[in-house]
Amino acid sequence: MAPTTEPVLQVSGLVKHYPLTRGILFRRQIGAVRAVDGVDFTLGRGETLGIVGESGCGKSTVAKLLCHLERPTAGSIRFRGEDITGLSGRALKAVRRNIQMVFQDPYTSLNPRMTVGDIVGEPYEIHPEAAPKGERRRRVRELLDVVGLNPEHINRYPHQFSGGQRQRIGIARALALRPEVVVADEPVSALDVSVQAQVINLMDRLQAEFALSYVFIAHDLSVVRHIADRVAVMYLGRIVETGSDAEIYEHATHPYTQALLSAVPVPDPEARARRARIILSGDVPSPTDIPSGCRFRTRCWKARERCALEVPPLAVPPAFRGTPGPAAHDSACHFAEELPAGDCAELGVHGNGPG
Ligand SMILES: Nc1ncnc2c1ncn2[C@@H]1O[C@H](COP(=O)(O)OP(=O)(O)O)[C@@H](O)[C@H]1O
Ligand code: SF4
Ligand SMILES: [Mg+2]
Repeated sequence: MAPTTEPVLQVSGLVKHYPLTRGILFRRQIGAVRAVDGVDFTLGRGETLGIVGESGCGKSTVAKLLCHLERPTAGSIRFRGEDITGLSGRALKAVRRNIQMVFQDPYTSLNPRMTVGDIVGEPYEIHPEAAPKGERRRRVRELLDVVGLNPEHINRYPHQFSGGQRQRIGIARALALRPEVVVADEPVSALDVSVQAQVINLMDRLQAEFALSYVFIAHDLSVVRHIADRVAVMYLGRIVETGSDAEIYEHATHPYTQALLSAVPVPDPEARARRARIILSGDVPSPTDIPSGCRFRTRCWKARERCALEVPPLAVPPAFRGTPGPAAHDSACHFAEELPAGDCAELGVHGNGPG
């Protein structure tokens, strides 16, 4: 599904395989960790794409590839139409300014021996052209103010701040170079629930203020709901379903997304009673040994023979192609369908998959 605004990032066929080796003297490659295994998406200007999936499905690897902290094994990344995948040296440095990352853990991502002023101003040391030396201090104070911190605290150290405040410091640092794209890798996962909403609201406000485009990563669908315009659900290195907020939350057609949604708390007891509960059986397979055909089949309660033989493409499923509506969005399942409203006994989807 395409964004409604002009694309800032276009990712196509993105792959990252880490070699799996054995031996010390004679290091031999015996396989590969297929961390990211063919990912395509487009991020529109001013838009937020939420990327959601269980731990280990490749979210952080996607984030690192987007920010050039890792090199892809295959595939391409375009920024404002320009292929930036193979850039190096000065050209790469110039592009990197525009794509900044906010990290998951505000406790370990800030150097404890640096003051907040030095942390937030560090990007200016790497990109001195971004701000004249005499002006950097003033800019850092302004950044602290923008993220809701007291500029008077510029000389304090990270341990003097709470978790939520530390994540604000991480956000201020990401904004120092006035990027167009911010890749936030589980920015609130390490925070208390009450603080999570504050940080998400802050990011929402900053997006409007600075015309930012976000890739917002989370392991839980409920976290991105408030902020994402579109959502991509990942499983074992691939996107299995993607669509607008309403298409994913109200009209999911992929069994994996349906299972994730069934785990999201619903405050309304009546709605809760109506909703199907799907408990996924088994563990996520290892990314060194991905199942044939549909990679979700070992945990899917709907799996049939075809699922082991054919890889389902990420596209609008044939059943929905002729019927425009919210169910007609990209879903990589041979048997994609909406879950009927009803209780789990009727559906018989207790998650006793084929194993
Ligand atoms: N540098 C690496 N070398 C080998 N395997 C890696 C490396 N980084 C990540 N992986 C593996 O790739 C898979 C995806 O990891 P990651 O992108 O961190 O997932 P997520 O962020 O969704 O939890 C995991 O199985 C992880 O162990
Ligand atoms: S293709 Fe088959 S195994 Fe995969 S999600 Fe659909 S029904 Fe389940
Ligand atoms: Mg991660």
